[in-house]
Amino acid sequence: MQIAIINGPNLNLLGKRETYIYGKQDFASYFEQLKIQFQEIELSYFQSNSEGDLVSKIQEIGFTIDGIILNPAAYSHTSIAIRDAIAAIKAPVVEVHISNIYAREPFRTHSYISSVAVGVISGLGLKGYELAIESLLTK
Ligand code: DQA
Repeated sequence: MQIAIINGPNLNLLGKRETYIYGKQDFASYFEQLKIQFQEIELSYFQSNSEGDLVSKIQEIGFTIDGIILNPAAYSHTSIAIRDAIAAIKAPVVEVHISNIYAREPFRTHSYISSVAVGVISGLGLKGYELAIESLLTK
């Protein structure tokens, strides 16, 4: 089974960025933990700060991979292009947010991605990625 984790803009700064919201762990070290925890899965990781690169990656892998875990970050609230890319592919996409987007600023409470995702996990910290993998495993 192949699962890809895709992170959007500014998530390369996890561990340094607003740690009171997003925590102190960087994603590279968390990804190493995930690989140990889910050795039976072929896990890959991609991060980009650019909307076009995220669309291209979703198109590139979306017809062959078994599932995608996507944290579109700020593009959740703005990107019809990422929404359309998800609608176009075959792979199920689980939307993950580290923080609870419904308990923050009003502009974060709408996600263009949620209506095309199979499910949404928001506010459970990095553990959300782990739960998203488990949900794809039991699909
Ligand atoms: C985020 C929430 C978004 O509103 C924000 O722009 C992010 C991260 C989260 O994981 O909580 O960059 O997607």
